[in-house]
Amino acid sequence: MVKIAVMGFGIVGSGVVEVIRKNSESISRKAGKKIDVKYILDIRDFPDSPEKHLLTKNVEDILNDDEVSIVVEVMGGIEPAYTYTKRALLSGKHVVTSNKELVATHGAELLHIAKEKNINYLFEASVGGGIPIIRPLNQCLAANQISEIVGILNGTTNYILTQMIKEGRSFEDALQDAQEKGYAERNPAADVEGHDACRKIAILSSLTFGYHVDSTRIYTEGITKISIEDVKYAEQMGSVIKLLAVSKKIGEKIFARVSPVIIPKTHPLAGVEDVFNGILVKGDAIGDVMFYGRGAGKLPTASAVVADIIDIVKNIDRNNRFIWSKSTNDILIDIGETTSSYFVRVKTDDKPAVINTVSKAFGNCNFISIDNPKTQDEVAFVTPERKEKELQAALNNINNVPFVNAVCSVIRVEKE
Ligand code: HSE
Repeated sequence: MVKIAVMGFGIVGSGVVEVIRKNSESISRKAGKKIDVKYILDIRDFPDSPEKHLLTKNVEDILNDDEVSIVVEVMGGIEPAYTYTKRALLSGKHVVTSNKELVATHGAELLHIAKEKNINYLFEASVGGGIPIIRPLNQCLAANQISEIVGILNGTTNYILTQMIKEGRSFEDALQDAQEKGYAERNPAADVEGHDACRKIAILSSLTFGYHVDSTRIYTEGITKISIEDVKYAEQMGSVIKLLAVSKKIGEKIFARVSPVIIPKTHPLAGVEDVFNGILVKGDAIGDVMFYGRGAGKLPTASAVVADIIDIVKNIDRNNRFIWSKSTNDILIDIGETTSSYFVRVKTDDKPAVINTVSKAFGNCNFISIDNPKTQDEVAFVTPERKEKELQAALNNINNVPFVNAVCSVIRVEKE
């Protein structure tokens, strides 16, 4: 019998307990031992929960109980999760988490403690919800040099964009729906501003390339500026808008970015819709491999947490070596030095003058129009590929010419 404690009885925590209860027999068979929940830590009361006899508000009950060998941290946020996790690891308890913010920020240190103590700190649920991605990167694809990871890593924003594309729903309406379905973060800004996807790509980059990649230094842009008109232009281009998290090894350096990107409908990630996540990995031996599944929600995330618990029970006496180095040398490439094409919309009373200026600034652009009363006073185009710093400088100049009223949309474009 292995006793575990669950810290946090929110959406994921209650899902973990539910899955352990529901699939108890098959989980025990796969783990080789019965798994029993001894404590649930939460500051709230749950008077109607069938698990209320396990609830405690005192973390010391868990940390001082030698019978508890695995702690499941599903509280989210940095504190008190960081302190509790560190204390649990230092006292020799394995820890499983879905907390991407904590892994992205303190992963190197916590993994190091786990290694020293010959125990495990596992975080499959921190990226991609129910999709297995951490273990495949670390084990199944271990023979490969991974050169690139591109993913739709946030279910909430993918749900919102899909609703805008398919149903013409407003951003706010779709966000509220995602919150009601339990996909969104407590503070939805973490989803819609791209921070959640940024933490996830930081974890995947650190794991893949072996250095701690600082999420606060990754260029991050969310979807709050995307309008229905942008979605329609993308449609006209045979494309869709997706929030993509990208990480590439370029020489000794890493290029990482989170931003909306217009991708053709033929792109493997274009068909990843609703709350689903998709992660495309390029390896030198395997070529392209794609992971797809539910990226958020109670039971999908619980599924990944419980898989980590089973893994630990099977390997209770050894460290799994999911590790990356603490080094934070200047390994990220500056966004200005990377290249991209842009889709741009310029509001103007003088379209021929704008077309002339744009063509002089960027060379051969692809001009696009849609049949929409709100876009009659604008010129929209896709630029050729340029360094981002050059494109930004040219756009700043265009924004300042007298016949330009505003540059109202700037979205990166991937052609294939
Ligand atoms: N808010 C996150 C998402 C939850 O929407 O993907 C899963 O990490």
